[in-house]
Amino acid sequence: MNLIFLGPPGAGKGTQAKILEERYGIAQISTGDMLRAEVKAGSAVGLQARAVMEAGGLVSDDIIIRMLADRITRPDCARGFILDGFPRTVPQALALDSMLADQNMHLDAVIELKVDDEALVERIAGRFTCATCGAGYHDSYHPTSVSGVCDKCGGATFIRRPDDKRETVAARLEAYHQQTAPILPHYAAQGRLHSVDGMADMADVTRQLVAVLDGVPAG
Ligand code: AP5
Repeated sequence: MNLIFLGPPGAGKGTQAKILEERYGIAQISTGDMLRAEVKAGSAVGLQARAVMEAGGLVSDDIIIRMLADRITRPDCARGFILDGFPRTVPQALALDSMLADQNMHLDAVIELKVDDEALVERIAGRFTCATCGAGYHDSYHPTSVSGVCDKCGGATFIRRPDDKRETVAARLEAYHQQTAPILPHYAAQGRLHSVDGMADMADVTRQLVAVLDGVPAG
């Protein structure tokens, strides 16, 4: 099953992709995570991406498309993938169509997580992750069970993303509305677009997603 999760920053794409990755045995592919790994490694791509990401803009289509073309052919995608954060522009959506056609692959569904802009700032500003295992948390909506200790691995060091500052979130939202939202009609025209209410609590969003996927014809 090959899926795209679309939605503004903080809509819950990463949270839900990790849940469905386990449930369906398909790979979560987050272009944001891939770029953060490049930044951390100090690679040429990372050096180009860093300033753009910290300003809340979008990294160039060329870099992203090259990165993704390689990623979707790896063995962990054999049962399918969830694209989390890609495509984000019309050229990226068109490039994905060609990539899939070249590989004889197809998309099963494109799911838009709808969340009001006001809720997003709160979600993003409260987000933190375990530095050891990457488990995601939120100060109010999903705190660790024991303060300062990761539920999953017992780690005691947590990190906050540099682009999660309140002032940067506004730029990220602007990029979403200006450059990413225009790809929704592309998938609506293909009959693949489904919307879920991302304002609901996390378990309810998962239930909505499973209901959509249960209704998607196999193959
Ligand atoms: P990326 O890493 O993709 O960030 P994003 O799209 O801005 O999305 P986020 O990761 O911030 O949010 P999310 O929707 O995954 O929400 P989450 O589940 O964490 O991209 C970062 C940057 O990289 C971009 O700005 C750009 O510069 C660059 N980039 C990446 N891809 C690119 C591309 N294709 N082209 C060009 N540039 C690219 O949830 C957020 C918080 O809310 C969490 O704390 C969570 O616990 C909480 N939460 C989740 N669901 C709920 C719920 N239902 N109720 C309450 N709280 C919830």
